[in-house]
Amino acid sequence: MVSIPRSNTPALVQLLQWVLNPLGYMRTNFQRFGDCFQAEIDPVNPEPLILLNHPEAIQYLLTHDTTKEITSPGALNILAKPLLGENSMILLNGKQHRQRRQLVVPPFHGERMKAYGESIYTIAREVMATWEIGKPFYIRDAMQQITMRVILQVVFGLYEGERYRRLERLLAQRLNLITTPVTSIFVFFPQLMIDLGPWSLAGKVRRLVQETDELIYAEIQERRAKPNPDRTDILSLLLSARDEEGQGLTDAQLHDELMTLLIAGHETTATALAWAFYWVHRLPEVFSKLMAELAVHRDTPDRMAIARLPYLTAVCNETLRIHPVALVTFPRRVEKPLQIQGYDLEPGTQMMGCIYLLHHREDLYPDSNTFRPERFIERNYSPYEFLPFGGGVRRCVGAALAMYEMTLILSTILNECDLELLETEEVKPVRRGGTLAPKGGIRMCLR
Ligand code: HEM
Repeated sequence: MVSIPRSNTPALVQLLQWVLNPLGYMRTNFQRFGDCFQAEIDPVNPEPLILLNHPEAIQYLLTHDTTKEITSPGALNILAKPLLGENSMILLNGKQHRQRRQLVVPPFHGERMKAYGESIYTIAREVMATWEIGKPFYIRDAMQQITMRVILQVVFGLYEGERYRRLERLLAQRLNLITTPVTSIFVFFPQLMIDLGPWSLAGKVRRLVQETDELIYAEIQERRAKPNPDRTDILSLLLSARDEEGQGLTDAQLHDELMTLLIAGHETTATALAWAFYWVHRLPEVFSKLMAELAVHRDTPDRMAIARLPYLTAVCNETLRIHPVALVTFPRRVEKPLQIQGYDLEPGTQMMGCIYLLHHREDLYPDSNTFRPERFIERNYSPYEFLPFGGGVRRCVGAALAMYEMTLILSTILNECDLELLETEEVKPVRRGGTLAPKGGIRMCLR
């Protein structure tokens, strides 16, 4: 029996390295062990956890995750519960998970996307209009303002009015409490969140959770009381959905799913956009090529056509490759003894696709630390070689919306604003909760 290689660094030290310096942790283990290794980084589940970065292994994982061999139990994502609630699709299993996805996925595709295009364009211009010439601002914060409004529009069908303004502010405040690698520790060790009064971190989180919940439940009550069959937002779809027994979703289920979409749906995209602005303004050659492509299509009213521009798309793909916002996929679980990469895995073992290491394999992406969008034009990468949105049964439900937002927001702002990057040193990626984000948020200003 051939076992997966593992480091003899104590588990607690590995977990701290994973939280405080995730890239260093992954690179060191990749250099020592290669395509797959055991990582002792799960603070909750005692079963072994394997990180895979070879495309063939990842393909096996993500094409077998609904079989008798491999599953994707929601319980393995328990760390998301304090933020999203136990009824979030991220914590559901099997049939329940599949049914919830069937409800949520359709509005993120097809005709609805056209309507979102107009909202994205309008919201980007609204936020852009608040920038003052010569006054520095953080591009990540600005992007978060845009993506938050977009997701409020998609989920609730509105982003104006007192309730939405408050929700926007409270969600941003709540997420901003865990923006540094050190505060991210609380995501991995929720037991350290001890409520020592209103000024402690736990006290602040408790107050914010309470206030956010009140707003979301108030919206649910109002919509239940006055149903409008013409509305096409996600809350309306979820409110009218019935399962095989004719049962609708409870208030708690609706609340948790709305929170999931609101949070998963804007943080990640804002970070990806901030990186895209950084690279485009750091590399003059990329800037010129992109501006030349955008100039030709400047007056195209068809937003879907803009979103398909080849160099713009390549810039967005390369952004998601070089600093993937999600470092790993959600864990999958081995149910029957199986072999991966010649190693024997026992039932109970957890496996995650390591997106960061996959995206930095020199055999797939030569000179992998160089930002070079052309690689996506010269070659077609398979879904198991380029994996920013994961795959299989838990593939990101918002992948198409995120790409649409990235291309439209980037093109709208570049077409209308002359921005300057104020960072002279290279900006490093650091942990931000469960994601990887630019350290400091990237300062820019309008010229
Ligand atoms: C650049 C932006 C984004 C990135 C990089 C990203 C990445 C990911 C990744 C890697 C996963 C895990 C997939 C797996 O385990 O195989 C995921 C899942 C998920 N994402 Fe995204 N995402 C982004 C934007 C969004 C948006 C805009 C939404 C919603 C509107 C969203 C909602 C979700 C949800 C609900 C799941 C869980 C799916 C499930 O459990 O079945 N994400 N995302």
